[in-house]
Amino acid sequence: MLTKKQIQALKSDDIQALYALISNPHSNAELLFILENLGRLPAGFVGDALLPYITHQNDDIRYWAVKNIGKLGDLRYLNTLYERTEHEANTIVRRELVSAIGRMRDATACPHLSRLLEDPDPKIVIQAIRGLLVFKQAPEIRERLLALCDHPNEQIQLILRKEFGDHDTASDYGHHTDSPNGMKNVAVLGDVRDVLRFVPDGSIHLTFTSPPYYNARDYSIYDSYEGYLDFLGEVFDAVHRTTKEGRFLIVNTSPIIIPRISRQYASKRYAIPFDLHARLVKAGWEFIDDIVWAKPEASVKNRNGGFMQHRKPLAYKPNAVTEYVMVYRKATTRLIDWNIKQYPQTVIDASRVDDAYETSNLWHIEPKSDRVHSAIFPEKLCDWVIRYYSYVGDLVFDPFGGSGTLAKAAVALNRYFFLTEIMPEYFERIQQTVTGDLFQTFPSRFVTTDSFAHDMADRTQR
Ligand SMILES: C[S@@+](CC[C@H](N)C(=O)[O-])C[C@H]1O[C@@H](n2cnc3c(N)ncnc32)[C@H](O)[C@@H]1O
Repeated sequence: MLTKKQIQALKSDDIQALYALISNPHSNAELLFILENLGRLPAGFVGDALLPYITHQNDDIRYWAVKNIGKLGDLRYLNTLYERTEHEANTIVRRELVSAIGRMRDATACPHLSRLLEDPDPKIVIQAIRGLLVFKQAPEIRERLLALCDHPNEQIQLILRKEFGDHDTASDYGHHTDSPNGMKNVAVLGDVRDVLRFVPDGSIHLTFTSPPYYNARDYSIYDSYEGYLDFLGEVFDAVHRTTKEGRFLIVNTSPIIIPRISRQYASKRYAIPFDLHARLVKAGWEFIDDIVWAKPEASVKNRNGGFMQHRKPLAYKPNAVTEYVMVYRKATTRLIDWNIKQYPQTVIDASRVDDAYETSNLWHIEPKSDRVHSAIFPEKLCDWVIRYYSYVGDLVFDPFGGSGTLAKAAVALNRYFFLTEIMPEYFERIQQTVTGDLFQTFPSRFVTTDSFAHDMADRTQR
């Protein structure tokens, strides 16, 4: 049995023996083992022994043969590899062929790569783009690539935007770590849509919210489900504008049930998280994660009564012990690392998440009740979201502030809060929840929309 060590030894001591071994393997398994373990090829390695295998009947052997030829970056194989792209049926091997052509990093390969931009398989187009980007300074290559900006594939659009789009952050409020003073530790009484009109672009670091449920409570009456989704769409559009580049929106929702009007009718269930998702993506929010908040079964409404008696299939109704905590990021071509690098080391250290963090997307958290508000966040949920998705000193927003749980958690974690709430009785509850700290640089303020608008017009608050 050949070992990896022997292959390494042959590479440095007896290259002719290695060529012979590649050309006359004992079996396909041995050949594959050699190809997979060739690793970095020595200078002067000639790929001719590999060439016959790019038409081998075994997909893996073809793939590894092409991959190894690619490491050589040898122009002599350009035409052979290109021809194979026209006949190869396996899409992974095809992509590797294009990658091997790109790795030649030679202008002679540009016409071949340019032709591959027409390929119907986006994976091939992306690989060809990667090869051509080496020459993006050449006007004809730049023009060819820019022509792909309208390509229907979203990943291709993203790559081109990242390479050629401008990174002008003039619309981003000040520095990434700053936020307007007039929004720090402020709760505004009013309709979030009115309030956000006075908020500059790129002011907010994190939004965590639980929107009003569709017609499930007194404070949430909408003329239709479409109208409800339109309303949320409008709010999250405005949140998008006012959020900083690459920062997060986290939305807690769950499907809801509108009870039947009589025994002749069925109750109606609305899949809010799924219907809202499409609107958020359309508004420019990139889907990142779906976290499930699980509650103890004893804490939720029992739907099992009838079924427990009759046990008739189709009438099964599970108790809904979960809600979604959907995580989105304001779409950008910048990596998360870019966001993190905006902070000084002291802030990064102060914000480091401790060891006892939740490692899975299943969060077991007890729900909370409140004597004034009927649907409040448990503080632990806010605490986790704030710790995992913001830095100390960030501005954390809840457009549907309710009783102000997010604000309380934000203050406890040295972040600034900004809330909006439309109902005066809940707004009053926020003032009781957020007692704050008398020595804060920005003491908590509870204002009307008009007074907020006035503050934001004052340049010292912006
Ligand atoms: C599900 S509750 C949020 C509860 C909150 N997460 C808490 O911990 O208390 C939704 C809140 O949104 C408020 N709301 C509904 N429409 C609003 C609007 N257009 N602008 C601002 N707040 C609104 C409701 O009055 C309600 O208090």
